[in-house]
Amino acid sequence: MSLKSPAFSSKVPVMLHGADYNPEQWLRYPEVLREDIRLMKLAGCNVMSVGIFSWVSLEPEEGVFTFEWLDNVLNSFAENGIYAFLATPSGARPAWMSEKYPEVLRVERNRVRNLHGFRHNHCYTSPVYREKTALINAKLAERYANHPAVIGWHISNEFGGECHCDLCQNAFREWLKVKYKGSLDELNHAWWATFWSHTYTSWEQIDSPAPHGETQVHGLNLDWRRFVSERTIDFCRHEIVSVRDYNPDLPVTTNMHMIDGIDYRELAKILDVVSWDAYPDWGYTEDGDDARLAAWTAMHHDLFRSFKHKPFLLMESTPSLTNWQSVSKLKRPGMHKLSSLQAIAHGSDSVQYFQWRKSRGSSEKFHGAVLDHSGHGETRVFKDVAEVGRILAGLTEVVGTSTPAETAILYDWDNRWAVKDAQGIRNSGLKYEETVLQHYRALWEQGIAVDMIGSGDDLSRYKLVIAPMLYLISEENGQRIEQYVEQGGTFLATYWSGVVGETDLCHLGGFPGPLRKTLGIWAEETEGLHSRDLNGLVLESGNVLNLSGDYDAHEIAELIHLEGAEALGHYRSDFYAGRPALTLNKLGAGEAYHLATRVKDLAFYVELYAAITSKAGITRTLESNLPVGVTAQLRTDGEHEYIFVQNFSGDVQTVKLDGRGYTDLESGAEVPAELELPVNGLAMLKRKAK
Ligand code: GLA
Ligand code: ZN
Repeated sequence: MSLKSPAFSSKVPVMLHGADYNPEQWLRYPEVLREDIRLMKLAGCNVMSVGIFSWVSLEPEEGVFTFEWLDNVLNSFAENGIYAFLATPSGARPAWMSEKYPEVLRVERNRVRNLHGFRHNHCYTSPVYREKTALINAKLAERYANHPAVIGWHISNEFGGECHCDLCQNAFREWLKVKYKGSLDELNHAWWATFWSHTYTSWEQIDSPAPHGETQVHGLNLDWRRFVSERTIDFCRHEIVSVRDYNPDLPVTTNMHMIDGIDYRELAKILDVVSWDAYPDWGYTEDGDDARLAAWTAMHHDLFRSFKHKPFLLMESTPSLTNWQSVSKLKRPGMHKLSSLQAIAHGSDSVQYFQWRKSRGSSEKFHGAVLDHSGHGETRVFKDVAEVGRILAGLTEVVGTSTPAETAILYDWDNRWAVKDAQGIRNSGLKYEETVLQHYRALWEQGIAVDMIGSGDDLSRYKLVIAPMLYLISEENGQRIEQYVEQGGTFLATYWSGVVGETDLCHLGGFPGPLRKTLGIWAEETEGLHSRDLNGLVLESGNVLNLSGDYDAHEIAELIHLEGAEALGHYRSDFYAGRPALTLNKLGAGEAYHLATRVKDLAFYVELYAAITSKAGITRTLESNLPVGVTAQLRTDGEHEYIFVQNFSGDVQTVKLDGRGYTDLESGAEVPAELELPVNGLAMLKRKAK
C-alpha cells in the first residue's frame, strides 16, 4: 500500500527550505537584494514567503497599486530556481486605511477602540476591511497566481485576537440566534442564566464578555470563544475566496501557532495544507529540561499533522534566537539540525524560518535570522542553516510519506476553553495542557506514534484513545467513545473528565457523565490539593498490567466508587487510603482505564503506557528501550520506513537497535547494532517495512 501523498507543489517536489523574506524593507539597498539571491542559493534555500506585511508597499494610497518591486523579486526568484509562498497582506494595514475608515480598527475587551499601530489588530467583521482585503488579494492573484515562481498562498499571518466593536456584537447576537434557533429561552437555559438573575429578556442585552461587565456566565464565555474562532475562520475563508478563482490549483495555507484562541482543527478544514510556526525555547525553560520541551514541540507537530493526516509545513522557526522570550538564548551546537529534523520526523515537508534577514530597525531587528546585520554567510547560524539545506536536499524520498499512529490523544478546543474557565477545584493551577503533555511524553519517550485528535473524530482507526482531563464532553461524543470500547478499543480517561456538556452545564446523575458506563466508575468528589499536599498511588499486587510500586500523586484527586471496574491501584494516604485510584473496566470487546489522581513522575506514565500499549498490540518505532530524553519517530511510504532517532536528553546516549537491518538514510551505509548519539545528536535510518 502506498502511504505517500503528492508533494506540496509539483514545481518543487523536494523538501522545502526557506524563510520569511521582506525585500520591501530593503528597496533602497539594491545590492542587498542581489546578494540575497546569491546567499539563498548558498544556504540551500528553495522557497521564501513574501509579501506578508507588504500592504503599504503594494498600495501606498487607496486604489494606487505599485507591484513593480514584487515583479522584480518574483522574476529573479524564477530565474534562480527559488519559489515563493505569496502572502496576502491583511496581517497589517496601511495607516491611510485606519485614518479614513476607523471601523477597521479593533475594539478591545474594555470597549476602547485601538489607535493605528502594531499588527493583527483589525476587526474581522468590518465590511470595509473585508472589501479592502478582497481587493488587494484579487489584484495580487490577478498578477501572480500563475507566476512560475509562486507555489502557494500564505493567507495573512497568524490570525488571532478578538474584536468587541458594535459590528462584532451584532454578528455575535445573530450567531446566537442561529445556534439557539431564535429562542432566548433555550439560550438562557443553556447558559444557566437565572444564576445571579442574569436572564436575558431581549437579544440586545447580550454583550461579549468584558472585564467591567459579564465574565461569570461560563456558557456565554464559551460561546463567545466559539464565535470568535468561527468569525476568524470566516475571514480566512473570505480571503481564500478572493484569490481562488485566479488559479484553483494553487494550494492555500495559513500559518498557525501555539495559541488556544482559534479552533485550528476547524480552520484546517478550509485549507489545502496545514502550516504552523514553532518557537520552542531550547535551553530557556526554568527547569532547563529540553526533553520536556522537545515532547511539547513534538506534540504540536503531531497535532498539526493530525488535522489532515498528511504532511504539514513548518512555516516558521528561528535559526538562532528570538527577541520576545524572557531570555534570548542561542541554539546550542547541534540543536538547529536536531530541531529542524524533528519537524520532518513528525510529518513536515518543510523547514522554514522567521526570518531571512534581520531588519535594520523596529521591534524585530534583533530576532534571529539566517543573515545577521553583518550581511554575509560566514557565521555559525548561516552554516547551520546551510547544513540543514544540504540534508533536506537528500531527503526527497521522504517527501509526502505518512506518519501512521495507532494511539490518539483527545485534545478539543472547547474543552481547553471550558476547563480553564471553570472556577473550582484548583484555581491556582489546573495545568490542563501540561497534563496532556504528561501523557504524551510517556509515549514519546518510548517512540510510540500519536495522533492528536478531537473527540468528534473517527476513533475506529486507533487501538488506544487517551482522554486527559476531558472535562467537557457531549452526550453524543460520550456515546461514541462507549461504542468504540464496546467494539474492542482501549480507552483511558483521567480525573476531571465527563463533567460538563456542550454549553458548560454539568452532567446530572453523577460524573463522569456520559463516560460513566464506559469507565465503570462513579466519581463522587474531586478536590484540588495544595502544592505541599502529597498522596500516592499504590499498585495492587498481581494486577493485570503487571505494574508494581508506589508513586507520589499530587494536585488533583478524585474519590471514586467501582461500578463494574476493578481496581489496579489504590490511594496511599489521608482518608483516601485504600480507595481505588487506577481502575480497569471491561466493556464489550474493549477495555477502559481510569486514573483518579495526578501521579507526579514520568516513570509511572512510561510504565503504565508500556503495559497498556503492549496489551493493546501497539507497535513502537524501535522495539528496543530508549534512554530518557531520546525518541524515535517514523515516516513511511508503505515500502520503506524512515526513522529519526533524536537525542534531546542533554547527554551522550547509546541506543541499541532491534536487529531489523538498518542503513543510514544519508550515506546508505549499514548501521551498527548500537548507535552512539552525541548531545543534541540525530540519526536518520532506513529499513524495509514489514
Ligand atoms: C510570529 C510571526 C512573525 C514573527 C515571529 C517572531 O511567528 O508570524 O512575523 O513576528 O513571530 O518570532
Ligand atoms: Zn469588530
